[in-house]
Order: sequence, then structure tokens, then C-alpha cells
Amino acid sequence: MKWNCITSSLRNVEADWLIVPVSEDAITGPAQELDQITGGSVSRLRESGDLRGKLAELLPLVTGPYASAKRLLLVGLGKADDLDRRALYRAGFAAGKYVAARKHARVAVAVPEPTPRLSWRDVILGLGTGVYAAYRGPGIRQNQPDRHAPDETVLVVSSSVPNDEALVAARRAEVEGRAIHLVRDLVNEPPCDLYPESFAHRAELVSQSVGVECTVWDEKRLLAERMGCLLGVAQGSARPPRVVILRYRNGDDKPTLALLGKGVTFDSGGLSLKTTEQMQDMKCDMAGAAAVLGGVQAIAELRLPVNVLGLLALVENMPSGQALKLGDVLRARNGKTVEILNTDAEGRLILADVLCYAIEQNAAHLLDLATLTGACMVALGTEVAGLMSNNDAWAERVRQAATNAGEQVWPLPMFREYGDLLRSHVADVKNVGGRYAGAITAAKFLEHFVADRPWVHLDIAGPAWSSEDGPVRDAGGTGFGVRTIVELAHRYAQEM
Ligand code: BES
Ligand code: MN
Ligand code: ZN
Repeated sequence: MKWNCITSSLRNVEADWLIVPVSEDAITGPAQELDQITGGSVSRLRESGDLRGKLAELLPLVTGPYASAKRLLLVGLGKADDLDRRALYRAGFAAGKYVAARKHARVAVAVPEPTPRLSWRDVILGLGTGVYAAYRGPGIRQNQPDRHAPDETVLVVSSSVPNDEALVAARRAEVEGRAIHLVRDLVNEPPCDLYPESFAHRAELVSQSVGVECTVWDEKRLLAERMGCLLGVAQGSARPPRVVILRYRNGDDKPTLALLGKGVTFDSGGLSLKTTEQMQDMKCDMAGAAAVLGGVQAIAELRLPVNVLGLLALVENMPSGQALKLGDVLRARNGKTVEILNTDAEGRLILADVLCYAIEQNAAHLLDLATLTGACMVALGTEVAGLMSNNDAWAERVRQAATNAGEQVWPLPMFREYGDLLRSHVADVKNVGGRYAGAITAAKFLEHFVADRPWVHLDIAGPAWSSEDGPVRDAGGTGFGVRTIVELAHRYAQEM
């Protein structure tokens, strides 16, 4: 699919669909231009109540002789004051999903004007990434693809935006969109097809295509590398575990940013077995690892001047005669012993070992993404990731990157008392903290493995997966994390 950015009057844009965003307030920018060339029809639709401009509201129209485009799709942006990359992404997604329901040759997207809080770059990124992301659905039905990406998409910007700035932003929207496709595909892939070995193979293919160094550790190597917690989780499964090490170096002697992802390709709970209801969507439990792979792919495609170490911890969590038992004690890579009191608290175990490895590799800053706890969804809902950290300054940088990128995160406290809930009678630490503050005690567990290095943990159990299908989202994997990772790496390149 071709993806371009042009400067043109809307009248002359040749397209099967011309997407024009409309705000809930004044008719400005491309909406105003359209109003002019149609002799005031946008204003009339506004007055008649057909067009309110509510976020992601769609109004498809057939054009007349006033424009070269065959059809128009007006898409609401919501209130101008609330406009941010998140709103633009949602509007773009709704429009992209609508036009990709049928096959078309060419789709054009009119880019709205920036606001005092939002640059051209952010507007192009928000809207463009949303449109691109929606060109892929979750379905695997015979003879019935759920999306038809057009042969070409053009972003139409006004002549007042500096040309190179628009091109750079448009290209980044395409790269982020492609990474979101990868993440969504991986999360949506059934666990019979995506298991640690096949995931690792996919990581090798991705790395090869974008020029990232990729090393895969098999179970023998993991044993030699003393990754006892990860191996403990994996031992109940017929599918052997893998750890994928991605190295992208384009920052000379700058510090290394480590990105770590929980990659449980299926979480049955192990002997602490989940119910059918709880287990149904547990193919999503590798969304953190998928986000890291997608993020690294995008960073490499953009040639960002940073050094990144990406670590994917890949296991399947299953009950069996060889499965981890309650009361077992595992030894993590840093030597700490862990008493297992619930085999369903497996994500923190596999992350423990790769966190130790990132510390040994001298990573300067760490970010892990993990569908770690149901408790985080109880606390923050399905749209917001929990952010936990051992370092306020690093937490604030990650929070700002995520917020700018349009992904919602919110801090949860890491007071010392929460850590006391993990005291074991036999080992250095136990793997569960009891009924209360489950998202935080999980993070407190991880903190045992990060030395004192600046580290942020994002619990993405809520936003990584959508159980509902709607205009601004598809059921299944959402691609959460990619936009935060790319924005963070972009800032890391500038600040370090
Ligand atoms: N993968 C789950 C967390 C999860 C739940 C992700 C729902 C997405 C949706 C995780 O491994 C888990 O089972 N956590 C337990 C922890 C508990 C045993 C301390 C949980 O949240 O119940
Ligand atoms: Mn679990
Ligand atoms: Zn899990």
C-alpha cells in the first residue's frame, strides 16, 4: 500500500473517498474549505443537526461536480479544546475502518489545522496512525477479509505546514501504523499457532527485515544462563520457552534504553487454573512482548539515533505432571529465591530474569510492558495502563511520552509497605501479595530485580485488549504500547 503526503486544494484531490475532519465547534481548516467549495453545505448540515462533529461520528456523502473526489466522509473530532493525539487517532481509526470495508484504489485524508497545544506533527501523527491502524482487522474467515486496505492513501496538508515537517510526520504515522498491525496480528493470532518458538521465529524475521540484531535463547541456554524463574513457569508446558534479545544500536556511546515485554503466549493459570471465563482471552497475555517487538521495528525503520535493548520473555503457562507446584522455590538470575504460592502470578516470574539480564547489560533506563494483573483493570479500567516505578524522574518522562502519544497511563504508588506483603517464610520473596493492591504488589515483586536502575513498569492488562468491537476499535488486540515506545525513544534520542 502506498502512503503519501501532498499539498493540494480539496477541490482537486482525486480519490474514491476524501475524509474530512470536522470539529464540534467552529468550522475551520479543511471543513471550512469544503464548506466554501460546496456553497455552504457543511454549515447547512451543521444547522440541520446531521453533522454535530462529535468524536468519531461519521457522515458519508456523495460528491457533486464541485470536487474531483467521488465520495466524502466527514468525521467528527469532538471539542477543539479536547483535541489531542488520542482523539485524532480515534477519529482516524473510525474513518479508516469505514472506508476499508470495501476495496478502493485511493483514499485521501484532509489534515486539520494545529491548535495552540498541538503541533502539525502531532496532528498528522494522531490522525494518520489511526487511519493506518484501522486498515487491519482481527478476522481469519475464509474468503472474507474484514478490511481492504486501499492501494494508496494520501494525507492532504495545507500549504502553510513546512513541507519536510509534514513528510517526516506522515512517514512516522505509516511506520507506527505498520508496527501496530504487527502487534495486533501477533496478539490476535491463536495460541495453537503462536507459541514461544513461533513467536521467536517471527521476531527473527522482523529483525532481519529492519536490520536489528536478534539472538534467541532456547531452553538449554536459559538453563545455562540461570533463568530459573522463567524456566519454572515454562516447565509445565509441552512448548519450550524462548528469550529473544533484540539489539538496535544507532546512538554511538549514548546510554541504552531497555524495553522488556511479558510474552505468555497462553496463560491457563497453571495448576492455579483459571476458570473458562477467565481463560478465554488469555492468548492476549503476550501483548507486552508484541508491543516491544513492534516498538523496536518502528524505531529501527525510523533510524532513531538511540541504543535499544529489547527483551521478549516467551513462555506458555500450563498445568501438567511437570508443572510448577505451590510451595516450590525458584532461584532467579540474580540469586534471589522465590516461593511460589500461586502459579497464575507467572508474568512477574518471567520478567524477573530478563530484568536481571538488562541490568547486567548495563541498560541505563528500563521500561517493561506486561498484561500483568487483573487488579490493575479493577483499579483503572480497560482504557488506562498502570504506571509503577522506582524513580520519579524516569516515571515522569514515560508518563509524558505516553500522554503525548495518545495512550492513557496513570501512576500507582510504590510505598514500602506494599513490598512487605511479599515476605516469605522460606524464601527471599513470595510471588503473590494477597488480596489487596494486586497491581502494586506485582510491581513491588519486579522491583527486586532492577537493582536501583531507573525503571518503569506499565501494566497494560486493560488497554492491550478490547473485548468489544466498535467504530473506534476492533475486538481483540489494540496495539497498545507502540506509540508510547516510539515517542519515548524519539525523546530519548534528543535528551540523552
Ligand atoms: N495474565 C494475567 C493478568 C490478566 C488478567 C491480564 C486479565 C489480562 C486480563 C496474570 O498472569 C494473572 O493471572 N494475574 C493474577 C495475579 C494473581 C494470581 C496474584 C490476577 O490478576 O488474578
Ligand atoms: Mn496468570
Ligand atoms: Zn499472565
